[in-house]
Amino acid sequence: MEEERAVLRHGKVEHPLEVFVGTEGESGLDIGRLLSSTGMVALDYGFANTAWCRSAVSFVDGNVGALRYRGYPIEQLAEHSCFLEVSYLLFHGELPTLAQLAEWREAITVETLLDEGMRQMFDACPREAHPMVLLSAAVTAMGAFHPELESTLAAEQAAIHLLAKVPTAAAFSYRRSRGLPYAYPRRSLDYCSRFLQMTFSVPGEEYEVDPVAARALDVLLILHADHEQNCSTSTVRLVGSSRATVFASVASGVNALSGPLHGGANQEVLELLQQIHADGGNYAKYLARAKDREDTFRLPGFGHRIYRSYDPRAGVLKTFADQLVTRQAGQDPLLEIALALEQTALTDDYFIERHLYPNVDFYSGILFRALGFPTRMFPVLFALGRFPGWIAQWKEMTEDPETRIGRPRQVYVGSPQRDYVPVHERR
Ligand code: ACO
Repeated sequence: MEEERAVLRHGKVEHPLEVFVGTEGESGLDIGRLLSSTGMVALDYGFANTAWCRSAVSFVDGNVGALRYRGYPIEQLAEHSCFLEVSYLLFHGELPTLAQLAEWREAITVETLLDEGMRQMFDACPREAHPMVLLSAAVTAMGAFHPELESTLAAEQAAIHLLAKVPTAAAFSYRRSRGLPYAYPRRSLDYCSRFLQMTFSVPGEEYEVDPVAARALDVLLILHADHEQNCSTSTVRLVGSSRATVFASVASGVNALSGPLHGGANQEVLELLQQIHADGGNYAKYLARAKDREDTFRLPGFGHRIYRSYDPRAGVLKTFADQLVTRQAGQDPLLEIALALEQTALTDDYFIERHLYPNVDFYSGILFRALGFPTRMFPVLFALGRFPGWIAQWKEMTEDPETRIGRPRQVYVGSPQRDYVPVHERR
């Protein structure tokens, strides 16, 4: 790290600003004292130019399409690692030894059951409730069931607790929406097989693990595990900066992720494909709408705030999607529409000029469908993958001595001061 200076000139006055250079060479202008030295704030819609923390968890290079967790390229982790090892890496900062990984896995496995009181919470919610609402409620409630884990001193136990119980809560939310009896976790299974078993097992029948499906899910979770200061992660940090508990903070992350411009996009992708299918496969019509500036419609699963080239996660998933499409050839018209849509968009000038490539949500939706999940579960699966990142970022924030409560400024554009008029005198 090295520091240099930049100068901001306003009128005739110069204001020196420190430049902070990160490990990968990207630099940040420190405007922390801008208000006191210039009387001005920085106006930055969507925080598009604002780094509000220093973080060592993950790194994205949007120009070349690179994503690394703690320095390790996502492609290597997706190929050689597993989700629980990646979770350990994100939380502790280093890859585990064999013994550490075994201990981490065991600690998570023995914690998979939910408190029976939580069942009533699921039962009390209407079947029609979106599974993301149930997941968010369940994560908030976990704090109520385990107040001893709310202290920052218990961060590791809280992380284990969340990683263990969130899949159970996610599976319960699915079964509640289907009106099915809850399936308890079989501890002998690995993390992803167990989640599939809790979600899809049929009462009275032995659940048969599909290793291809379990591995595909594991890779999907790895690819979603962290992604710098995205909307939900920033939400987790913002909520946590008020010293709210880890449960309150990550539950807020679930809520932020539920929006269609973030984790809800994969659900939107599938809904669009269904609409195109119902429309006789006419995807050109939807491409034309996406390009029409008078129309607010955007092609879900395309574009990204950071990536101006291919999203590396989409690259890994495309390989899996192609394999699954081949395995299920002719069985699912939506998968074929998706691939045709992708090919056409990739060669279209509108998308090329704006660097709009498929993002992770385009393929994850296709894969989640191929794994048998209904569209409403897609954001839940994204959340399942993102928990290790949220927890690691929350921990990093609580341990950073520079952390202050998140409190952005604004530029007020409302009415100037005016005097109150009693209601009976108003015309
Ligand atoms: N379809 C059509 N046009 C698009 C799309 C799209 N999906 N995305 C961006 N554009 C266009 C914009 O209209 C704009 O065009 P203009 O320059 O003619 O005005 C240009 O591309 C730049 O777009 P911005 O709005 O500046 O991009 P921004 O970084 O603010 O938005 C976002 C990024 C929200 C992801 C956007 O691309 C989008 O809405 N995509 C669809 C939703 C989606 O897939 N979200 C998932 C994101 S990944 C994730 O959360 C894991």
